[in-house]
Amino acid sequence: MTFTNDVCYGNNNELLALLKGYSALIPPLHLKFPVQYSFTEVHTFLLHQVLLAPHLEQYPPSGRYQRSFWKWSIEHLERMDKDEEDGEIDTRIYDRYLSLMSGSTDPSGPPPDSYMTYYWKPLSSLGCTDRSSHETITLLESRTTIESGTTGLRTWCASFVLASYLIANAETIRDQTVFELGCGSGFLGIIVATIQQKFNERHESHRQPLPAVLLTDVNAGVLSRCRDNVQLRCNQSSNHPNITFSTLDWFDALSLPCSESMMTAFLSKASVGVVIGADIVFDPILVPPLVATLRLALSFESARMAVVALTVRNEQTLAYFVTEAVPHAFTSATYFDLDTAGVDAGLDVKIFKFTLHNSAS
Ligand SMILES: C[S@@+](CC[C@H](N)C(=O)[O-])C[C@H]1O[C@@H](n2cnc3c(N)ncnc32)[C@H](O)[C@@H]1O
Repeated sequence: MTFTNDVCYGNNNELLALLKGYSALIPPLHLKFPVQYSFTEVHTFLLHQVLLAPHLEQYPPSGRYQRSFWKWSIEHLERMDKDEEDGEIDTRIYDRYLSLMSGSTDPSGPPPDSYMTYYWKPLSSLGCTDRSSHETITLLESRTTIESGTTGLRTWCASFVLASYLIANAETIRDQTVFELGCGSGFLGIIVATIQQKFNERHESHRQPLPAVLLTDVNAGVLSRCRDNVQLRCNQSSNHPNITFSTLDWFDALSLPCSESMMTAFLSKASVGVVIGADIVFDPILVPPLVATLRLALSFESARMAVVALTVRNEQTLAYFVTEAVPHAFTSATYFDLDTAGVDAGLDVKIFKFTLHNSAS
């Protein structure tokens, strides 16, 4: 396995929650300082598993976030009951905070891009039986809702929900070419590539060539960020030999004659098995081209299904999509092992699964 920072925390859930929160830049306001541990336990954890963790040193949260996190942590540590002998806060924690205080980030400007590390648990079907072991996915992301005119530079909640679905139904993508629409900064592409690689590692004796992962988006800047994230050495996807990044606009599926469109040319060469997409219905204007793309992709013989996760921001837009696409809907979405306080946290996310019969009707 190529992940370098598997972690095992047994039942230390509060400490793990703190690490996950720091790694995914959850504002301290939404974090719970661990209360059931002694000063020494929390302090040691913060020092060695958070501040000095090699992975987080290489892929750190933004300076602005760290400043708020360490201020909050120091205040809590200073208030804790301490043993007489061992009650000092390590100078390395103070030094980190002081160095961030003197940093040049303007606290009133937009938040800077940051590495985000998310923890996830592969299921036993992928050979992972230790329930306390976690793996990580790391991405460089925007911290604003829209940057450079696109929403694709951050990971949206629907991606986490769809990731849970794919992890729980990993068999469906193990040997299929997966085609992602509106891939954004690469979170789902990394999940898909990692699942396929894990299946292959499990069956060492009869390894197959890995199927393709086709990551597509309309925005070239987004695709470039996606490529960088997928290829980060800490992500297992960096070793997947069959991932492509292509600029593709769903509107192209509406061009006439359809048989001569770029979309048809792309799909004719691709042998797509499974189509995926997260948070790709946010504007009614996109519904007809998106539905046309789904129908076209599913009309090829190799296609098994499309799975789309949508955040319900506007009931009418969703209803329009549902009417146009005539899907089988699953409304009971599984849920990714993540405590995020992102901009769309708390909103309803629905998963829709399409097959040829339903999409074509
Ligand atoms: C809200 S973001 C979702 C990104 C990612 N799937 C996620 O869940 O984090 C929507 C994505 O759809 C892409 N997109 C918007 N219109 C598109 C179009 N006409 N064709 C292809 N991609 C499009 C955007 O560039 C953006 O990356």
